[in-house]
Amino acid sequence: MIQQTVFITGVAGFLGSHLADRLLKDGYKVIGCDNLIGGYLDNVPPGVKFFSYDCGDREAMVKIMEGVDIVYHCACTAYEGLSVFSPHLITKNTYGIATSVLSSAISNKVKRFVFCSSMARYGTQESLPFREEMIPKPQDPYGIAKLASELTVRNLCETHNMEYVIAVPHNIIGPRQKYDDPYRNVASIMINLMLQNRQPVIYGDGEQQRCFSFIEDVVNPLKLLGTSDEVVGHIVNIGPDEELITINELARVIAEQLNFNLEPIYMADRPCEVKVATCSAQKARNLLGYKTQTSLQDGIRSMINYIRDRGVKPFRYHLDLEIVSDITPRTWKDKLF
Ligand SMILES: NC(=O)c1ccc[n+]([C@@H]2O[C@H](COP(=O)([O-])OP(=O)(O)OC[C@H]3O[C@@H](n4cnc5c(N)ncnc54)[C@H](O)[C@@H]3O)[C@@H](O)[C@H]2O)c1
Repeated sequence: MIQQTVFITGVAGFLGSHLADRLLKDGYKVIGCDNLIGGYLDNVPPGVKFFSYDCGDREAMVKIMEGVDIVYHCACTAYEGLSVFSPHLITKNTYGIATSVLSSAISNKVKRFVFCSSMARYGTQESLPFREEMIPKPQDPYGIAKLASELTVRNLCETHNMEYVIAVPHNIIGPRQKYDDPYRNVASIMINLMLQNRQPVIYGDGEQQRCFSFIEDVVNPLKLLGTSDEVVGHIVNIGPDEELITINELARVIAEQLNFNLEPIYMADRPCEVKVATCSAQKARNLLGYKTQTSLQDGIRSMINYIRDRGVKPFRYHLDLEIVSDITPRTWKDKLF
């Protein structure tokens, strides 16, 4: 069999690096890029031909994609909450870079383009769980930028005859997720804080509900989006729909494992936050053989081990707040983490 070449954007990030591991193991040649605005360089698996390029650099993208068969576009500043206060940065680095990578893939006659969207595309719907056929109603600039990217992917791929698939991952957790980022990754932030003997911050009443997925369970379905014939032209939710929990419960699960005396600090709601968000996994079960195998307890345990091994870290406020007002979360405005 001829070895296929895969290009992964955001390969130093959480999803991108795990996907790269999986594809290398399965015999693919893997090229990747990352500008390290997020992620960690030591996430990049040995064996990946790595370029520290920005996806917005279209000339670099055109060169890097010569001879590539499949593109997984994972790079993004995936900051849903922050997008309400830094909309220019997030939109440019979500929609803008998607068009750069997409255009370069088409000009290189790449066979398939897998776009990582987000459950933020759904916004608030009249019923739960979110299913792929629902009309998207994103309610923050990040979700809007993801939906705009999806529409552009579909439009250009149909026009230029390139296969595409839209992945909708949601609340994925696991080792390699950035844990010193104050703007994103609630479970990792809580673990990093509690390991430093500091109380976690919970926005609103903490009764927001989510369904967390463990990376090991989603990496194979994600891979198949680039390689299976069943999914071409589809939108597929990636993650479980079984273990819905509140943010308060999440904090308790982490605290119990760390034997930490939990007294969360409650702060004002984050504007635009969707209160209950869960995605149906039925389509992923049918098309990709998705199966939830890791419990939340086990997932959290492996994250704690990862953060302990790598060492706790101070939080880095590495992104500019464009809008500072009365409704900007104090954790960001006053750099409280
Ligand atoms: N992890 C989740 O639960 C989740 C949920 C919904 C959607 N997603 C989507 O999946 C994708 C991957 O998410 P993740 O959790 O791995 O995020 P991540 O932040 O860990 O990884 C993204 C990587 O992209 C890189 N990057 C960002 N902008 C770049 C640019 N302009 N050029 C080059 N590299 C750039 C970052 O440095 C980072 O390493 C994103 O598109 C995200 O929107 C993830």
